[in-house]
Amino acid sequence: MSTVHIESMKEDISNIVLMPGDPKRSDYIANKFLTNVKMVNNVRGMNAYTGLYKNKRITIFPSGMGNPSMGIYSYELFKEYGVDYIIRIGSCGSYDKKVNVNDIILVNKSISESTYAKSLDNYDKKEVCSSNKLNNIIYHTAINNKNNITIGNIYSSDVFYEKEYDYNKRKLNLNVLGIEMETFALFNNARKFNKDASCLLTVSDTFYDSEMLSSEEREKGLDEMILLALESTLNL
Ligand code: HPA
Repeated sequence: MSTVHIESMKEDISNIVLMPGDPKRSDYIANKFLTNVKMVNNVRGMNAYTGLYKNKRITIFPSGMGNPSMGIYSYELFKEYGVDYIIRIGSCGSYDKKVNVNDIILVNKSISESTYAKSLDNYDKKEVCSSNKLNNIIYHTAINNKNNITIGNIYSSDVFYEKEYDYNKRKLNLNVLGIEMETFALFNNARKFNKDASCLLTVSDTFYDSEMLSSEEREKGLDEMILLALESTLNL
């Protein structure tokens, strides 16, 4: 079996998928955290892997950048590959001093001006929720494993290089912790197919100061988020 964008055999994809944005991060996670790893997709360099995390069979599949790319991969995984759970593990810019570089956000709602949902199935709301069930599991896993997480809403933009923005206005008007570019499409696909999607984000930059972290510090922050997502799958 294959779809327009995925060459995997159906049985090679787990019903639980972790989605980083970057295909290189997919390589990193598979190498560092999974055993019995098999590469299951290489179309367009979107390296996906299926393997074991403590005996749980997991697929790591990159989303690429932006709602359109996330929209394609999560749509095909839910609809054609029988995937039930997708956890996005990405990065975001922070608008709110509550969350600083390397902090982890568990997304409640994605708010967006994207036309993705309208084009998908005429859904015309500007916000969409994460899975309650999956968020609860992640939340309790975080508490058990002593991970510090902040729960809140995120703005999902279609434009990285916006002509103008006022982060204060957006933060106050929309009640969001920060900005990223993929979660609106993911949550809408989960809504359409009645599946479960959640999103964990590590803050990679902030709009209120210019703190810089070493690549080592960044990697450590990412590892904590990746491990939280992996540990959460053990409770599914
Ligand atoms: N904007 C959009 N997406 C992002 C950002 C940002 O500043 N940082 C990480 N993902």
